[in-house]
Amino acid sequence: MSTIQKPSTHPLPALAILGGAPAFSELLHVGRPNLGSREKLHQRVNRILDRKWLTNNGPMVREFEQKIANFVGVKHCIAMCNATVALEIAIRAAGLRGEVIVPSYTFIATAHALQWQEITPVFCDLDPLTHNLDPAKAEALITPRTTGVIGVHVWGRPCPIDELTALCHERKLTLMFDAAHALGCSYKGRMIGGFGLAEILSFHATKFLNTFEGGAVLTNDAELAKKIRLMKNFGFAGYDNVIYIGTNGKMTEVCAAMGLTNLESLDEFLAANQRNYHCYQACLQGMDGLSLIQYDAGERCNYQYIVVEVDERRLGLSRDQLVATLYVENVLARKYFWPGCHRMQPYGSYFPHAGLLLPETEKLGARIIVLPTGTAIGPAEINTICRIIRTAVAHREAVCEALATHAPVLRPVLP
Ligand SMILES: Cc1ncc(COP(=O)(O)O)c(C=O)c1O
Repeated sequence: MSTIQKPSTHPLPALAILGGAPAFSELLHVGRPNLGSREKLHQRVNRILDRKWLTNNGPMVREFEQKIANFVGVKHCIAMCNATVALEIAIRAAGLRGEVIVPSYTFIATAHALQWQEITPVFCDLDPLTHNLDPAKAEALITPRTTGVIGVHVWGRPCPIDELTALCHERKLTLMFDAAHALGCSYKGRMIGGFGLAEILSFHATKFLNTFEGGAVLTNDAELAKKIRLMKNFGFAGYDNVIYIGTNGKMTEVCAAMGLTNLESLDEFLAANQRNYHCYQACLQGMDGLSLIQYDAGERCNYQYIVVEVDERRLGLSRDQLVATLYVENVLARKYFWPGCHRMQPYGSYFPHAGLLLPETEKLGARIIVLPTGTAIGPAEINTICRIIRTAVAHREAVCEALATHAPVLRPVLP
């Protein structure tokens, strides 16, 4: 990252792109893990080792499932090895087939979980104000082959759940939610996790709550929960008795120990995310061309993502130029979800003109920048990140020229 050659003298500010030293000596990632008490994790791991029960629905996994179900207020939580497998299993258990409507503005796993089992993800455009699925546009995509809709609570901000519920009820479609971003968030006062037929959480290392890798299906439907429990364990209903097609989606005891330990620190994680959000808000205030997305103060929210919309015309720098400028400072800001699932493979080949039907997705993907947050950073780092942004904007002409000169080095982050 810090491979830009230093010119011998430069009258401009010490931005790394202009020849200064990078502001950070270590890489600052967007999603560095939130870690609870090491001591408590060690105690739990010791208990696992003493018990010699490492996986296969052990006591830690069961305790973790119960605690997540209680926290969300849902009847069943089935913990899994990751959210992608949880999505695949939930989709299969719910009997989805044919076509399923999903946003293109999501992590690729939402689409892959369908295509993996030869169900066609039909990409729907978004509402530019909320970044979530637009129910009217979803309705227009329903065909005789459509069996369901999977909404994604992007950034933890809830989908239009009521409208999607009404639509799916009326058109007899199954509704599920990819809630990978949304643990600890609420919709009209009710915790996300209990809506639709099922909701899927991710406990990946970068998420608000991590289990190293992990995920879960949440549902209030006892039959579905039973089916999912079978499916994530090869279809075993007991020793030597396989009654279903299944796979291996099990969460390990060590992962559950991490989850239980991190759950005990969830309030701390939330406080750090909130502090960081407000710090970015203060530091970026008044910058024409940059707007930090808002979270609804009337709802519960995990503030997991610092999402900024860049208006290139007003800022004088493009989103990609800003990402590249931060990159050489060792700040690995990200362009989420760029370029959109519809432009990734295999979907880009299957539907080469999909972009024409997804104008808002295309525009949003080109203007979003996600900045680092979480317990690993605080106001000092955020002040520095925002100072870099302000300085780059103040010296945009020199920055643009330097970026063009160093384009080969910056290939990974330039378009
Ligand atoms: C919206 C969304 N869905 C699904 C996933 C997949 O989660 P996992 O990494 O746990 O498989 C992610 C992960 O980042 C995600 O952001």
